Amino acid sequence: MNKDVERILIGEEELDRIVTRLAAEIDCDYKNSERLVLVCILKGSIVFMGDLMKKLTVPCEIDCMKVSSYGAGTATSGNVNIHLDLLRPDIAECDLLIIEDIIDSGNTLSYLVDYLLLKGAKSVRTCTLLDKPSRRKVEFAPDYRGKEIPDEFVVGYGLDYAERYRALPYIGVLSPSVYENA
Ligand code: IMP
Ligand code: MG
Repeated sequence: MNKDVERILIGEEELDRIVTRLAAEIDCDYKNSERLVLVCILKGSIVFMGDLMKKLTVPCEIDCMKVSSYGAGTATSGNVNIHLDLLRPDIAECDLLIIEDIIDSGNTLSYLVDYLLLKGAKSVRTCTLLDKPSRRKVEFAPDYRGKEIPDEFVVGYGLDYAERYRALPYIGVLSPSVYENA
């Protein structure tokens, strides 16, 4: 285990079971969709999206957006900035499924759903691997949710602290000493 990780919250086998279940739910709901587009929210969702898309049997396209609501640390700013936008001339024909690593305040996803609907998407839904419901600042419920977790800062499986720990194969609780001494 990485020395900065206090404990493993979700191990590799549980992650695999969660992703398998989410893929089955999505397969079922989108079997009649003519154009499903998975929208990966960079960079935290890269690992989750890669595993999820391999398990889908419905045809899908992929796209990416890069947004930020966080500063460099562990506290959310409340502002959502779009750094890489979705540029698709065919958006009116697309059923967009936003793939997110974690919902915290809810600011990022509630903003993105409204934004993509305003851009003219045929439909917009959200799929998050992790959810910290106790941290919500705006009311928001994802359409697909992997697992609820307590209010602790987690890293691994794509999630970072200051760009580190993304490559860990599990979700771990970061030792508070790492950011308290930063
Ligand atoms: P929200 O807009 O407050 O819901 O923030 C969601 C974003 O905050 C996620 O996409 C992550 O990038 C980041 N985030 C929230 N909690 C954590 C965490 O525990 N570890 C790593 N990133 C987190
Ligand atoms: Mg993120």
